[in-house]
Amino acid sequence: MPLTPPIPILIVDDEADLRELLVEALADQGYGAEGAQGGNQALDRVREKHFPVVFTDLNMPGGLSGLELLRAIHDEDPRTMGILMTGYATTEAAIQALKRGAYDFIQKPFKLAEIEASLERALDHYRLRQENEEYQKNLERMVEARTQEILGLKNDIERLFEGFVNASVTAIEARDPSTSGHSSRVADLTVGLAEAINETPNGPYGGQHFTPIQIREIRYASLLHDFGKVGVREQVLVKAKKIEGERLESIFQRLHQRTLEAMRDRMLDAWSRGIPFDPDRMKDLTRQQEEEARHLLELIRRCNEPTVLPQDAAQELDQVAGLSYQHWTGPDRPLIEPEDLDLLRIRKGSLSAQEREEIQSHVTHTYRFLRQIPWTSELAGVPDIAYAHHERLNGMGYPRQLKDPEIPVQSKLMAVSDVFDALAAADRPYKAAVSVERSLEILEQEASVNLLDPEILRIFIEARIYERIASRPWGNP
Ligand SMILES: [Fe+2]
Ligand SMILES: [Fe+2]
Repeated sequence: MPLTPPIPILIVDDEADLRELLVEALADQGYGAEGAQGGNQALDRVREKHFPVVFTDLNMPGGLSGLELLRAIHDEDPRTMGILMTGYATTEAAIQALKRGAYDFIQKPFKLAEIEASLERALDHYRLRQENEEYQKNLERMVEARTQEILGLKNDIERLFEGFVNASVTAIEARDPSTSGHSSRVADLTVGLAEAINETPNGPYGGQHFTPIQIREIRYASLLHDFGKVGVREQVLVKAKKIEGERLESIFQRLHQRTLEAMRDRMLDAWSRGIPFDPDRMKDLTRQQEEEARHLLELIRRCNEPTVLPQDAAQELDQVAGLSYQHWTGPDRPLIEPEDLDLLRIRKGSLSAQEREEIQSHVTHTYRFLRQIPWTSELAGVPDIAYAHHERLNGMGYPRQLKDPEIPVQSKLMAVSDVFDALAAADRPYKAAVSVERSLEILEQEASVNLLDPEILRIFIEARIYERIASRPWGNP
């Protein structure tokens, strides 16, 4: 509040003449001057109204002394500036007065000009102090407003980012619906595992503690760990059999054509040797050819399954390699193209080495994608954590064949969650779901050969982290 005239000034003195003289003189100068004859009366006035400046006599008979009054006024209204007046001035008294909070010290008898000069200095000081306080308050208000603004912005950014992560997860899972929910289940498991590690007092991870922001980093890395699958061709990503779709259809069609060709050749051969048409012989021939065709078809179907290739089927495939049919352009061509034979010869799973490599490239795609995001310094580890989720302790992982000390601990947690979910989820194209008990056994086998971290797996099992997603139907995020 700026000072506006008449500025209230209080004069406290038991000498009525002097008091009245000062009140009048200051009133003439335009001040709202008032008098009080002693400390108690002065305090009553101060309680009723704010006086920027109070002049007080030092020695007043009975009641408070000038110094005591100034202290009492300070307790009531710290903004008031006190000026002491006394007829018994000593240097010591002046020092004491100033030490105890008086703004100025005036010796009686004084000239009016001295009072006016002291009052003006006091008021200048008062204004300056007030301006400072106002400035301070403004600054605080501005800082508070900016802080709220920044917090709001931070919340907006966080919400925006959550939305972006969720949209990315939706994009991954839309390309491969069979792994729907995998990303968020891996995130839940890995976060649960990190929290369980925080609770572990001893062992190799006894000293490991993840802060809330590190847990968030783990969550983002887990949600986005397979994002790179968007860079893998869909037919490879969702491939359930070794040969699929039109390619398989075309083999069956060629097989059928080969059967007809064989019958035609045999009939032509008979006729060329003068043997007349015999319906019974024709039926017999048809039956033989169809039986052979059925056998071949069954063989191709058996070999096309992603389960372990039976030895006898593998040997029989070698014989099929020599079979041919007549292409419409004239020359004979292999019944099964060499690349299809290679696929059928895959010993386990549905993917060729090249396709497997393509699937594995998802990790590098994930890393390249995540590296492009300008993470805050606290979340800067997200790309590296996700990059190492298929690395294995013994160096048998991919894509960099890192070994134990080089693999971030967060990635080791994620590896356990990822493998568990891949096994226990019923939704992979390659295989049926494995029971929780069997999945944990497989994880233990992997830990025993130093693929997964045995201590992390122990915590995963002991803290029953896997139960976090057990109540959730597989395939639902
Ligand atoms: Fe992966
Ligand atoms: Fe995964």
